Amino acid sequence: MNENVKEIEDSKYLPIKINSIHPSTPVPFDIFVLVNKKYIHYLRSGDHLNEEKISKLNKKAPESFFILSENKASYKSYIHNMIAGDTLSAEDKAIVLRESSQALVEELFESPDIESALIESKGIITNFVQFIDEQPSAMKHLIGLSTHDFYTYNHSLDVGIYCLGLGHVVGYNLRQLQELGEGALFHDIGKRKVSIDIICKNGPLDDIEWAQMQKHPEYGLAILNEFDFISDAVRACCFEHHENFMGNGYPQQLDGEDIHPFARMVALTDTFDALTTKRSYNTPLTPAEALEFMKTKLAGKYDEDLLSAMYDVLFSMNKTL
Ligand SMILES: [Fe+2]
Ligand SMILES: [Fe+2]
Repeated sequence: MNENVKEIEDSKYLPIKINSIHPSTPVPFDIFVLVNKKYIHYLRSGDHLNEEKISKLNKKAPESFFILSENKASYKSYIHNMIAGDTLSAEDKAIVLRESSQALVEELFESPDIESALIESKGIITNFVQFIDEQPSAMKHLIGLSTHDFYTYNHSLDVGIYCLGLGHVVGYNLRQLQELGEGALFHDIGKRKVSIDIICKNGPLDDIEWAQMQKHPEYGLAILNEFDFISDAVRACCFEHHENFMGNGYPQQLDGEDIHPFARMVALTDTFDALTTKRSYNTPLTPAEALEFMKTKLAGKYDEDLLSAMYDVLFSMNKTL
């Protein structure tokens, strides 16, 4: 067997998006590629990847790259330095931040160690909040990078970014943005306890499956209640994000202002993301169509003021920031 071929169990590797590597700096950790279920040493620590190669790899196999789990801290500080430095444009920084966060959010839903995953995920939101604070013009780039992907972890990150946009537009301070971002990122954490067959089903759910799915806010609250570093507002995002403004949501049938404002934002961006996401059984709406649909066909379900603010997030940020 080739000595570069390493067959070590999956737990020793952490997936990364190749787009999170930037050609401007040497890469301070080894990178591996997964081919035929084998991890092959691809790039040596200290080497560069050129731009052309990154874009080629990103098109060909964006999900196949890994680092050693023991290099996670090094990967995170590499990302942090790129975001904090002034080599990259706001747009490139947005790409690096978005792409590097995806693997960490995946851990939130997959890792058996929920406590560590929650702590790490709070750090992701801190990075986003700092980035938006230092470079408000980057918000439009982050919004533009939405994956419109139905996997829970991509969806959660998208909802997190939309909510940060909404919070920014309504004038929240950094502490509020941090809490809102965490609540949005963790809103579907209860889906950890729903069968993967139901989560990934390509088609409408039957009654039994639907009943199971509707338990996820309660499951999520039970998970978050285990940890005292999770705030009440974050818990509310999780437990109240399927309530609706006119009172016929679930699980508590809360209405109007009784629903936590952060949870109202999550509810709105959650639906917006679902409507604009491609699934095998539907055609996604454009952002403008989705907002129009929510305003007309789903009238009364969402906080009207927030719905108007969402137009600003999506269409006015270029002009106002
Ligand atoms: Fe949900
Ligand atoms: Fe959701």
